[in-house]
Amino acid sequence: MSRYYPPEAYGELNDDVNYILFSAEEIDQRVRELGQAISVDYAGLNPLLVGVLKGSFPFMADLLRMITIPMEVDFMAVSSYSAETRNQGLVRLEKDLGEPIDGRHVLFIEHVIDTGLTLNYLLRNLRVRNPASLKVCVLFDKSHRRLIDVPLAYKGFDLPDRFVVGYGLDYRERYRNLPFVGVLKAEAFYLNDGK
Ligand code: IMP
Ligand code: MG
Repeated sequence: MSRYYPPEAYGELNDDVNYILFSAEEIDQRVRELGQAISVDYAGLNPLLVGVLKGSFPFMADLLRMITIPMEVDFMAVSSYSAETRNQGLVRLEKDLGEPIDGRHVLFIEHVIDTGLTLNYLLRNLRVRNPASLKVCVLFDKSHRRLIDVPLAYKGFDLPDRFVVGYGLDYRERYRNLPFVGVLKAEAFYLNDGK
């Protein structure tokens, strides 16, 4: 028996989803595979997994329990100044890492990469702190939207150029708790206005 509720259990949240792209079980299986690969590649390196709040936390929570070697975890939080500055990849660091990362093998965990601008900004910020290595693990990749090239060491799934929600991905802070990932109905963009 699956440990997840069926999509219908999510009532009005599920009603806003046009169609499901990746089921909870599919995500689970892929996250397990990523965890296995990371466990092999980083054996003996005590990697530091770095996530960005809030979107990456379900992925981080599931991924790190599929990693079977010693590791540590830390989080950053960012916010956009405005839509315009975000398009330039400018974000404000709201919360920094708790410890220095010089000499550490850092694996940056991101739930979705779109234009790549946010990720590129954060990687530049981390690189100057002299980690021993700095690689990226992303669960969902919208590669056709990329404006700047970011090498991805680990990738879960390719996403179509559609706005998706669930498994940490939000629209106006909603839908993060869906265990699956689906395309939001056009109406839902209006329905959520003002709520
Ligand atoms: P970018 O790679 O700088 O364009 O920004 C990626 C960020 O945009 C992610 O961290 C998400 O917050 C957000 N994002 C991009 N695509 C989606 C989507 O389909 N659903 C929800 N959020 C998204
Ligand atoms: Mg968001």
